[in-house]
Amino acid sequence: MNTLLEGKKIVIMGVVNKSSIAWGCVEAMRDCGAFIIYTYQNDRVKRQLEKLVGADAPMVECDVATDEDVEKAFNEISTKYGTIDGLVHSIAFARKEELEGSLLDASREGFSIAHDVSAFSLIAVSKYASKIMNRGGSIATMTYIGSHRAVPNYNVMGVAKASLESIVKYLAVDLASQDIRINAISAGAIKTLASSGIKGFQQLLDSASERTPSDKPVTTREVGNTAAFLMSDLSTGVNGDTIYVDKGTHLS
Ligand SMILES: NC(=O)c1ccc[n+]([C@@H]2O[C@H](COP(=O)([O-])OP(=O)(O)OC[C@H]3O[C@@H](n4cnc5c(N)ncnc54)[C@H](O)[C@@H]3O)[C@@H](O)[C@H]2O)c1
Repeated sequence: MNTLLEGKKIVIMGVVNKSSIAWGCVEAMRDCGAFIIYTYQNDRVKRQLEKLVGADAPMVECDVATDEDVEKAFNEISTKYGTIDGLVHSIAFARKEELEGSLLDASREGFSIAHDVSAFSLIAVSKYASKIMNRGGSIATMTYIGSHRAVPNYNVMGVAKASLESIVKYLAVDLASQDIRINAISAGAIKTLASSGIKGFQQLLDSASERTPSDKPVTTREVGNTAAFLMSDLSTGVNGDTIYVDKGTHLS
């Protein structure tokens, strides 16, 4: 336990189970003394979250696919918990049929849903979160190297991650006047509920492990540790950037 995030209220969006990257963020930030407010997509996810953190933990429903829900969620957070100091956006979705084969077979609707939930949502969430965020606040999101490499089967999600990384840069400029910074973490491949939907994900994990200079795969906790750094005052000089937390897999 250390005091890096003591006194800071951090909203963490995207915990569905203990494999979630967002859960690695929770573990890291709890150990740094943060007060954590959880958001969940729907009642099914709420039940899973309650099993992890108890029914009395601060939690608010937020389906990022509608602006009304996002606005309502941050109004509720403001009413119940006051201002916040940080936010972790660890959310993505694409239909299973978009995560296999060729991008040439992408549907307009599937493309649109993936971009809406996985990229546009960062704009919506940042808009309402920044209204209740203290100066010096920090936002972090999760991306993947498939944003600029043609990773097999990643398809529309890769294009959505390219959009997400670009959104981070534009928002960094827009939020700077409020002294809020925003960054992305490019996490290495980790088996989670979302990543299991990518066809051939095991092969992707195997190929990542062959290319990793380290002999161990990256963990959600390691991603969470970097997110904790980004939420802390140690990272005030980092803005609009993408930090790789993949044990060096991106190097080859
Ligand atoms: N697992 C990996 O290999 C990997 C690598 C790099 C980046 N990422 C990114 O990390 C983030 C978290 O994914 P994960 O791998 O931990 O999977 P996960 O399944 O544990 O988390 C995904 C979360 O997104 C939420 N979500 C989906 N649609 C939503 C909506 N409409 N409204 C609100 N929440 C919604 C789900 O409820 C879930 O909590 C994603 O952005 C993912 O692309 C994952």
